[in-house]
Amino acid sequence: MSQHLSDAPRSAAAPAAAAAGHRDWWRDAVIYQVYPRSFADGNGDGMGDLPGVTARLPYLRDLGVDAVWLSPFYASPQADAGYDVADYRAVDPMFGTLSDADDLVRTAHGLNLRVIVDLVPNHCSDQHEWFKQALREGPGSAMRDRFHFRPGKGAAGELPPNDWESIFGGPAWTRTTDPDGAPGEWYLHLFAPEQPDFNWDHPAVHDEFRSVLRFWLDLGADGFRIDVAHGLVKAAGLPDIGHAEQLSLLGSAPMPYFDQDGVHEIYRDWRRILDEYPGERIGVAEAWTPTLERAALYLRPDELHQAFNFEYLGTSWDSAELRRVIDRSLTVMGAVDAPATWVLSNHDVTRHTTRFANPPGLGTQLREAGDRELGLRRARAATLLMLALPGSAYLYQGEELGLPDVTDLPDEVRQDPSFFRAAGQDGFRDGCRVPIPWSGSEPPYGFGPDAGGPSWLPQPASWAGLSVEAQTGDPDSTLEMYRSALELRRSLPALGAGTEVVWLDAPDGVLAFRRDAASADGGEGFVCLVNLTAEPVTLTVPEGRALLSSAAGGAGTNSDLRGTGGVAVTIAADTTIWWAI
Ligand code: GLC
Repeated sequence: MSQHLSDAPRSAAAPAAAAAGHRDWWRDAVIYQVYPRSFADGNGDGMGDLPGVTARLPYLRDLGVDAVWLSPFYASPQADAGYDVADYRAVDPMFGTLSDADDLVRTAHGLNLRVIVDLVPNHCSDQHEWFKQALREGPGSAMRDRFHFRPGKGAAGELPPNDWESIFGGPAWTRTTDPDGAPGEWYLHLFAPEQPDFNWDHPAVHDEFRSVLRFWLDLGADGFRIDVAHGLVKAAGLPDIGHAEQLSLLGSAPMPYFDQDGVHEIYRDWRRILDEYPGERIGVAEAWTPTLERAALYLRPDELHQAFNFEYLGTSWDSAELRRVIDRSLTVMGAVDAPATWVLSNHDVTRHTTRFANPPGLGTQLREAGDRELGLRRARAATLLMLALPGSAYLYQGEELGLPDVTDLPDEVRQDPSFFRAAGQDGFRDGCRVPIPWSGSEPPYGFGPDAGGPSWLPQPASWAGLSVEAQTGDPDSTLEMYRSALELRRSLPALGAGTEVVWLDAPDGVLAFRRDAASADGGEGFVCLVNLTAEPVTLTVPEGRALLSSAAGGAGTNSDLRGTGGVAVTIAADTTIWWAI
């Protein structure tokens, strides 16, 4: 079923887009996450695919992003939407062929877009050849050493080897059946039972992933988003945690299966491989660490290039909290000479449009629609704040359309594996994975050909007005706001890379900061003004002009109110203004 590289018409050059960009391109890149199932369906089977993505790459070029990160499209039984990989060198037939992946990379490079592939090294699929062989060969076999197999506790081995809980709920261990039919050993899976964890103490695992990295680098990948980058190494002896409801500890307390110091040796090794290739290929850590300081360790100069800033993602619409996280991120990442990164949404959390539609403090896993108008207003303001900050920003497909989560998906259509496991998360993740509306007035809204089947998750009837087609050319639309912001970000020397924002005096609930261009001939200065309160505020800023506002209908400046110190600007509730001085 799988296509291997030798089947693909390899482009002789297959260059990373080296020539296309500037040095250190990743320090200020805007990286757009494509969730392949839900972006564009080329063949009409209701499931997004690689040819669908390739055909829509000009849209991403016109949007103004620098790179595309694709969630996994490897051969996979799809127990966790492709994060359960059966073959790291093959494309799942549902998404296309290896030759389609090659086309995608070459087309992207032709459009000056870089391509980041999602690498899943913590675990594979229970249908991976190694795991199938390990089960077949039974206890004591060499293949079992590549995973974490252990005898159970209790008189008859009927209890799991330790007390670890799966991130998706339930025990992190599943008991196997021996080849003779008797109950056998248990194996570790931090996620679903279909996702056995690799044993990174085994040299064969290291060798295999070095080879997988080279496979995709040879194909032209510009970098890797590293799934569960903090999970590969487990504490020696797999010690008990001694605490129930362990999910509540994640991200705040040290865990014996996350963020162990041993992981860093792996990334040093990988960095050497990345650096062998031309064009600054990068590694991006998905590392949920207890502190930003721990995340920065992954970004030391001889390790990875970026890590997602989940602390920023989890911050409420609150000026004091945001300012604190922004300052801390810049300081902590700057200390290891890594760019700060900013992200508001991805395929694992409730979209920020919906988070901000709900009261603060409810976290990132919601299934309540909330006040949609408020949510969108704040989401747009949050985006302009994020894109004004120094460093690199991540966008999740559909946020440029202001899509909310679909919070009322019927149970019959839901597919998030955690929905099927009693405890833990409740499967809310399907809500942000509903396919993109491109055009037309009814589903599938151009997601697939009109004659095609229904999309794998149903799109709401209310999405016609949110489609790319409906928003294009409408100056008040969220899509046009993103396009303008990304264009300005490219053209203004003060925006993009850097380590500093200069905070300006502002009333409670308002954030105001200046960014200075690195060089003296950097042109206009830049000020970002964010009103996070529910009332309009007027403040005096250095004389200048409004570049962009997150509020539909203009910036709300009040230029007749000039004072000696500058000009008075009125900013509507929950609004961000970009201001040139
Ligand atoms: C990461 C992915 C998530 C997946 C999990 C297990 O957190 O982002 O979607 O379920 O890893 O691979």
